[in-house]
Amino acid sequence: MRICVIGAGYVGLATAVMFAKLGHKVVCADVDERRVRDIQAGRSPFYEPPLEKELGKFVRSGALTASTDSRAPARDSKFIFICVQTPSLSSGRIDLRPLKAASRVVAKTLASSKEYKVVVVKSTVVPSTTVSVVRQILEGGSGKTAGEDFGLCMNPEFLQEGSALRDSMKPSRVVVGAIDRRSGDALMRLYAPIKADKVRTDLSSAEMIKYASNAFLAMKISYANEMANMCARLGIDSGPVLEAVGKDPRIGSMFLTPGLGFGGSCLPKDVKALRHKTKALGLPAKLMSGVLAVNDDQPFEAIELLNTALGSLRGRRVAVLGLSFKGGVSDVRDSRAIPLIAGLLAGGAEVVAFDPMSMSQFIELMPAIQYASSAKDALNGADACVVQSDWPEFSRLGKKEFSRMRNAIVVDGRRCLDPAKVERAGARYLGVGYGVASK
Ligand code: NAD
Ligand code: UDX
Repeated sequence: MRICVIGAGYVGLATAVMFAKLGHKVVCADVDERRVRDIQAGRSPFYEPPLEKELGKFVRSGALTASTDSRAPARDSKFIFICVQTPSLSSGRIDLRPLKAASRVVAKTLASSKEYKVVVVKSTVVPSTTVSVVRQILEGGSGKTAGEDFGLCMNPEFLQEGSALRDSMKPSRVVVGAIDRRSGDALMRLYAPIKADKVRTDLSSAEMIKYASNAFLAMKISYANEMANMCARLGIDSGPVLEAVGKDPRIGSMFLTPGLGFGGSCLPKDVKALRHKTKALGLPAKLMSGVLAVNDDQPFEAIELLNTALGSLRGRRVAVLGLSFKGGVSDVRDSRAIPLIAGLLAGGAEVVAFDPMSMSQFIELMPAIQYASSAKDALNGADACVVQSDWPEFSRLGKKEFSRMRNAIVVDGRRCLDPAKVERAGARYLGVGYGVASK
């Protein structure tokens, strides 16, 4: 089967490699020339090592190709997956411009095609977007009718960055939202080799499932953070508390690690888009507002720990370890490192930062701070450090590195270090939600 994937980001590329692995011929179409050149050379445009390994294999065999032109590959394909970005506008509302642009191109190919094609929206879009906005563009631009002349589906993606390909191949569930039975049946057949629970719905329910899922994950993290902040004030370590809470199968142990809040390209903007849509429906969106309010304040927990330990931040040199939104990825979108560093600078600190994979992207966001070439160099002469993302290499830091600091104060912003090991290495351990150290 020929498949066209429009938008070769994390979702598009993982989808493309997954279908290539299932034996299909896939073309990735993207407006970003650099991304297309990377893919043509078998390189992933972002840090996802297992994805890159497979990508190279399929590019070499010719099963996966890339192009800056969407029109020809879409014309030649039976399935067209739209995987473009859907970021937040400053109001929180979803920005549909890339989706509309991609849909307009698809509409033109539908106009000139005799074959029955299935258009699949995989981008995260607020409920009713596919059935209204996308459908109108496709029908208006092609003169054809969705559900009759071409198929239309909504197939949300649940992958996590860092395990993009594995999550695509072994998803927790596959949601197939469709405008009609024929479109849904076709997509179900395409997904037949993927062993997972399959949920069939209408288009808007599929869209809602994605937002409801991300809202729950974000809510769990903000809940963990609020409990952890309370524990810290009570001199309780939130670690064992939340671990015991998570043993209740109705709650579950995942996504209960406290820290500096949730970042990344999905949870923050999806919760904002959901809140915006909820309010547009005349509902107060109190829960989502609370989830976001807790998240906005969370980086200041690290600043408060530093202020207490150092007296003041003014003139202090603080090393920020980890700039990506979580360890193991190069993505800096909505990283909590941004408000953390802004808060440190506002308090008068001098900031030196390091990340194993995302330095070049972060320098574009914050060019005015200092950057170090390793964690060890960042710690040199620092009055304190904050671990902002949970890269495994930070949990291996020891006496050799901490002894280079002027004041060996270590703030664990992701609860990824072993407090006893840090203390044995001669440093003072302060963790978000770790009340013991502040007793
Ligand atoms: P991304 O920003 O990494 O990639 C999107 C790509 O689309 C970019 O390369 C961009 O150049 C390209 N593009 C934009 N407009 C285009 C057009 N008109 N024609 C062709 N290409 C175009 O985005 P992403 O992180 O892969 O996310 C894509 C969608 O999937 C979003 O809606 C996101 O919310 C959702 N999602 C993302 C993740 C994730 O972990 N990143 C997980 C699940 C769902
Ligand atoms: C998320 C969803 O998990 C995924 O299902 C969806 O498809 C896309 O959005 P991702 O953006 O890769 O995936 O990040 P995730 O692993 O969920 O982490 C998001 C943020 O929450 C990170 O900043 C992470 O550090 C933080 N987090 C996560 C916590 O603070 N505590 C936790 O217990 C888990």
